[in-house]
Amino acid sequence: MASASIATGCSRGESDGAAQKPASGTEAAGRKPKKPSEIVVGFSQTGAESSWRIAHSKSIQEEAEKRQIQLLFADGQNVHNNQVNAVNGFITKGVDVIVIAPQESMGWKPTLKEAKRAGIPVVLTSRGVDADEDLYATVMVADFVWEGRRAGEWLAKQTNGSARIIELVGTPAADVAAMRKDGFAEAIAKHPDMKIIASQSGDFTRTKGKAVMETLLAAHKGEINAVYAHNDDMALGAIQAIQAAGLKPGQDILVVSVDAVKPAFEAMIEGKLNATVECNPMHGPLLFDTIEKIVRGETVPKRTIVPGQIFEREQAAAAISARPY
Ligand code: AHR
Repeated sequence: MASASIATGCSRGESDGAAQKPASGTEAAGRKPKKPSEIVVGFSQTGAESSWRIAHSKSIQEEAEKRQIQLLFADGQNVHNNQVNAVNGFITKGVDVIVIAPQESMGWKPTLKEAKRAGIPVVLTSRGVDADEDLYATVMVADFVWEGRRAGEWLAKQTNGSARIIELVGTPAADVAAMRKDGFAEAIAKHPDMKIIASQSGDFTRTKGKAVMETLLAAHKGEINAVYAHNDDMALGAIQAIQAAGLKPGQDILVVSVDAVKPAFEAMIEGKLNATVECNPMHGPLLFDTIEKIVRGETVPKRTIVPGQIFEREQAAAAISARPY
């Protein structure tokens, strides 16, 4: 079994040497390079707030298992301090590489400095952090501004540039939420008759997306004809609220979101979701290729953008069987 929870101990490999330089146990550090089965990776995951996140964890855990790399998995349960504590624990254990999927972008500098001081390279996945680039080895994310812009352009086309929109925002302290907001705002700014009537966080969850949508629908009765949700889970919650209010999602109120998870394709096939912009969570293979390179002392790009595309409901039936998540 290559994967373990954070409670499971691991023995420290060598950890001397500066971070972002060859990791412990490399040729460049004057030692025999580690085999994948000798590599220990500490992974601090945000939580399990969405279908996207569950697919992201699964992709990373399965890839570790496949390569027989020992993965210490810490579920942050969507609390920033849990993640900081987990990463500090990985530093104390002396893992070879630390992977962070940060819930919040701020508040990471002291921890990253500590990892660097301990000579442990840090790889960021799914979201970025507000910290100097020399404090981490690499970041792999999607182009979140593009995702928001693409959703906005799609909605502008569908409504001929006239819409009264509810925006369901992701976790406000996450860079992804700010960037998806900015990209969408940029796209609709070209259309004076596209207005955001209300913008509120649903924290990337279906439950909160539904609750926020219920409140906003009641507050803006008859005013709304579109929803832009920063992820599919919130869109699916909003769809439930729209139906409960006696309206038809996908018709009376157009719904566009981000992620392109399978449940979104099911909703598109049912005609309730109009479009979703893909944000691919299958980071496992690229992540571990990168980790192995870092451990071998090879150079890796500072930033990798995982590409995506938009899916409209007319494409859903043909595309659903090939969806990997
Ligand atoms: O960071 C990626 C975002 O986090 C996904 O779009 C969202 O579903 C998740 O919770």
